Amino acid sequence: MNNFDFLNANPQYRSFSKDCIDAERAFQNSYDSCVKLVRSALDAAIKFFYAKNNKVAPDNLFDMIENANLDKNLADKLHYCRKLGNAALHNEQEFSKEDALQCLKNLFAFVNLIDNRQRNFKTCAENILGTELCGIKLNTPIFAASGTFGFGEEFADFVNLERLGGVMVKCITLKPRRGNDGVRITETPSGMLNAIGLENPGVEKFLTKILPRIKDKMNVIVNISGSSVEDYGRLAKLLDVDGVAAIELNISCPNVKDGGIIFGTDEIQAAKVTQAAKKNTRKPVIVKLSPNVTDITKIARACETAGADCLSLINTLMGMEINIHTWRPTLGNITGGLSGGAIKPVALRMVWQTAQVVKIPIIGMGGIRSANDAAEFFLAGASAVAVGTANFAEPNITMTIADDLIKYLKSCGLNNINELIGKVKFR
Ligand SMILES: Cc1cc2nc3c(=O)[nH]c(=O)nc-3n(C[C@H](O)[C@H](O)[C@H](O)COP(=O)(O)O)c2cc1C
Repeated sequence: MNNFDFLNANPQYRSFSKDCIDAERAFQNSYDSCVKLVRSALDAAIKFFYAKNNKVAPDNLFDMIENANLDKNLADKLHYCRKLGNAALHNEQEFSKEDALQCLKNLFAFVNLIDNRQRNFKTCAENILGTELCGIKLNTPIFAASGTFGFGEEFADFVNLERLGGVMVKCITLKPRRGNDGVRITETPSGMLNAIGLENPGVEKFLTKILPRIKDKMNVIVNISGSSVEDYGRLAKLLDVDGVAAIELNISCPNVKDGGIIFGTDEIQAAKVTQAAKKNTRKPVIVKLSPNVTDITKIARACETAGADCLSLINTLMGMEINIHTWRPTLGNITGGLSGGAIKPVALRMVWQTAQVVKIPIIGMGGIRSANDAAEFFLAGASAVAVGTANFAEPNITMTIADDLIKYLKSCGLNNINELIGKVKFR
């Protein structure tokens, strides 16, 4: 939720990251403390700046700012923080919300220079959708669901990728897969059936060619699938690299014969796969559950006990279509996974049931096409949502959902999305 939290991800910034984060947190309680802490954070950050450039820092903050060769506008911003900070240290004046916010923004401009990635400072008001999941900072709690959004970059013309909570990229396996033969997709009333068969370039190509291109543009959640418990462990290990925000275990793909769903429909197997992944990675592990079970809560609990950090649900429901002219199944794979608006009530019921029995966060998905749909999932207990099939019809639907969700939260008088989670009423 905080602008400066990203500093935590880089151990190099340790000397000033805590000061920056503390300053921003203080903003919620006292503008005076915030201004004071901004000054300390600036002091630490500028010392880091000098050390990084192999220069010796002068011993007072004024000279540090003057001698740092900064552009005049930025130097002025830093002097603003210094002056207000000094006044705060000597209790010379009381500070307004605007003063404190300006200090934070100016400090952020300097941190941006250090980090060189030009991130945007979001004010608290803009941050109504800002949240955090498994330690990952999210600008919005809206993800793109795996298999419906490529590797994210394909949607860059339609979507501000930074505004998504993250992209669950297309499922990755150890070896490349060409997917299923024949027809792979067919439209159904309010949805679609797919049997892609996990076509993907394989983990090696993903790591060497794709991840370097996308890692700084979005939170990358890698969806993985294997034919054995060991496969999940190996994939988790290979993906424990910079640029991967989390790993999502696809134990619920109904469209392949050699894996996926067999792990998602059996509590013991689901637990084994979760443990294998957890043992091999420091990244948060999200387990993606299948709706093709009698009682989803049993699998959910087994994954939580095995160490899952988060659950995502639901994957597609197994379905079928027959062409009455040829008398053959439409899909080359005979059966496929049903997704889209048609499955929303089933998905919502499963998210609600699961939220009753686990403590770990849930990413809800299945048929979400609007902010109203998303709000239902939050009320049912989801901490975030993912949008899948709707991206095909409207590639910028995630942005519309974010905009409309802000309006909805404001209309309810809420300050942050977290205030909606699990608030469904029964009386
Ligand atoms: C064409 C297509 C491909 C998909 N591929 C994957 C995949 O590779 N891995 C996965 O975990 N889920 C996959 N899914 C499931 C979605 O991520 C999502 O769980 C499901 O479609 C429900 O959400 P929706 O109704 O919003 O689409 C795929 C769905 C579709 C429609």
